[in-house]
Amino acid sequence: MAIAPNQKYKDAYVDLSKGQISREIFVNEEIYQRELEQVFARSWLFIGHESQIEKPGDYFISGMGEESVIMCRDRESKVHVFLNSCRHRGMKVCRYDEGNTPVFTCPYHGWSYATDGKLAGIPYFKDAYHGEIDRTQWGLVEVAQLRIYKGTVWATWDQTAPPFLEYLGDFKMFLDLSLDSWDGSEGGSEIIGGVQKWMIPCNWKFPAENFSGDSYHNISHRSVDMVGIGPSGTGRRDMNERNQAKRLHILFPERGHHTGAYLLPKGDSTPPAYQDSPVVSEYFAHCERERRRVRGEWGRLVGSPGEIFPNTALHPRQPRTIAVWHPRGVHQTEVWRWYLVDRAAPDEVKNFLREYYIRYSGPGGLTEQDDMENWNYAHSASRGTIARRYPYSYEQGMGYERADFEVDGLKFPGLVTDLSEAKSSEDNLRNLYRRWADFMDADSWDVLANWRNGSGA
Ligand code: FES
Ligand SMILES: [Fe+2]
Repeated sequence: MAIAPNQKYKDAYVDLSKGQISREIFVNEEIYQRELEQVFARSWLFIGHESQIEKPGDYFISGMGEESVIMCRDRESKVHVFLNSCRHRGMKVCRYDEGNTPVFTCPYHGWSYATDGKLAGIPYFKDAYHGEIDRTQWGLVEVAQLRIYKGTVWATWDQTAPPFLEYLGDFKMFLDLSLDSWDGSEGGSEIIGGVQKWMIPCNWKFPAENFSGDSYHNISHRSVDMVGIGPSGTGRRDMNERNQAKRLHILFPERGHHTGAYLLPKGDSTPPAYQDSPVVSEYFAHCERERRRVRGEWGRLVGSPGEIFPNTALHPRQPRTIAVWHPRGVHQTEVWRWYLVDRAAPDEVKNFLREYYIRYSGPGGLTEQDDMENWNYAHSASRGTIARRYPYSYEQGMGYERADFEVDGLKFPGLVTDLSEAKSSEDNLRNLYRRWADFMDADSWDVLANWRNGSGA
């Protein structure tokens, strides 16, 4: 289906007055190409974690939209993110996943770049170029803005995008639930092991909407719940803790971020018994007590899956991971998943978590495999000429999001749905597509930063 010039995405494809969304936005090549420009070239994207590049010369190859980027630490220890494409003829300057180097030497004709991005060497500079090319003009292309926040590295290609913390807005407290230590102290997380990377045959928005907080798909994970892969040996997480908690969805319409969260019961909660490991049991019991002592009532709040617009998924706890849904064409997504632990945790705890993370998430993880089956087949069954004529339903819980939500004296920002009552809501999913349509329609960040003039939805 051809897209008419000046077609508005809001209403035509994302009709939130009816709670209906066109399948075209998942399968249409033209829409996908516009998405790369309008969404991925203008948003803040997750690049990696500082603990991956601790020493000068360390680098890690990451991605922004479809493009490969180099995250590296220069000789002065400053972190940079560069487009991984040689300025001479576009060759990938670095073809390894990670490592340490004094310079990046292009394998094609040998231009070499220092770790601060400057063009350091050109073969036959004197003879073939007669010393005339201006090397200062041909350094690696660098992102427009970069921000390191509690160890995580974020970047955008758009100079006019608001600074990262303004982009986050009140969602910051929920990102903190992933990046702070479990005992409630600031920061202190690190990446454990490598980054898992794999391809799945579906549009990137299928996993994105699922991790925004699809609280409706428990049926998909029934077998995992029965097997009991959770850290305490029951369910797929710690079910006792979850069952006692108040379940919430929190969304930020003007920013496009959203998350689930659990508010644990007042007073001391019973820490789960961690499968015959006294060290692990004691560590988590200690963290629970400490977090409540440090944060008071807010220490009862723990995270569940959520997302920073457009494609960074947070899974703050059990397992604690960050995933990026890299678009790889309209029909394909490359998933990258990082795993986090408290840097200060004993090795036995880190190892215990590493084993749990692997059996839960990633291409070999039982829970993630359940999810991928759904996304892959939903995508292929939506591509056909007939199938794509019919919109999807996103009507669940429409109009039940509440502003100024307060419980036990805790005032929540954003719009909240209490899932302890409603069981499930597609509020966060609608929020993703509301913001997506904003990006597809808006010409500039003047329009997108609508909170600055108070005209946000
Ligand atoms: S493409 Fe890199 S030196 Fe020619
Ligand atoms: Fe799932």
